Amino acid sequence: MNKTVRKAVIAGNWKMNKTPAEAKSLIEEMKPLVADANCDVVLCVPFIDIPAAVEAAKGSNIKIGAENVHFKASGAYTGEISADMLKEAGVEYVVIGHSERRTYFGETDQTVNLRSLAALHAGLKAIICVGETLEQRELGYTETLLKFQTKMALTNVTKEQLQNVIIAYEPVWAIGTGVTATAEQADEGNGYVRAAIAEAYGEDVAESVTIQYGGSMNAGNADELVAKVNVDGGLIGGASLKAPDFAKIVAAASK
Ligand code: PGA
Repeated sequence: MNKTVRKAVIAGNWKMNKTPAEAKSLIEEMKPLVADANCDVVLCVPFIDIPAAVEAAKGSNIKIGAENVHFKASGAYTGEISADMLKEAGVEYVVIGHSERRTYFGETDQTVNLRSLAALHAGLKAIICVGETLEQRELGYTETLLKFQTKMALTNVTKEQLQNVIIAYEPVWAIGTGVTATAEQADEGNGYVRAAIAEAYGEDVAESVTIQYGGSMNAGNADELVAKVNVDGGLIGGASLKAPDFAKIVAAASK
């Protein structure tokens, strides 16, 4: 197991926060604080914020991501956004299958797979979220579920396309709750995801895939989490809305 073959990625997930003007000023504040990062720095923002965010991030090491993408290239899908639209707007990453989308918007393992294929086909990097609920953990299904969700999400994804895939292990019980998985639980969950990729694509390929942890990662606990061998950075919700906190997480992943 060699962590150095993978570049850590710290990605903020702003969720439904910040107007375009607020996005611009938050990114301006973040730029100098993360300029020396030795990891990839991504901010996934609401669709409407994308033009302002791309403009504000220009010339910096901050990459812009979206929080969702539709799986069809175009057509009668009122209210949806295609991968080509995102690409043309300057988006490089997209979060797919976040637990909030699975819980509130009917996202399934099948639609996560279709969205991932559409994003990868368009040349976007997909940050695919997997994670168990507290009930599933208590019933002892964490490993089975994480492996299943990972393999379902990657159905028909080629070895080459996998280079543009990041998996974010986000235990549902840790998202936005202030309850963080212990570093051991995070490492174990990420390890299950890596094992699933190894089963599908082989050990060598699995070693090269960036697997993030997400769920109440913050300035205080990031050091311990990202030090774990299977934790290649994080997907950060609440703490990505505050420039100094986000910068501390980026610094932790840059060591
Ligand atoms: P949180 O969110 O950091 O606020 O727990 C993480 C996420 O939902 O990606």
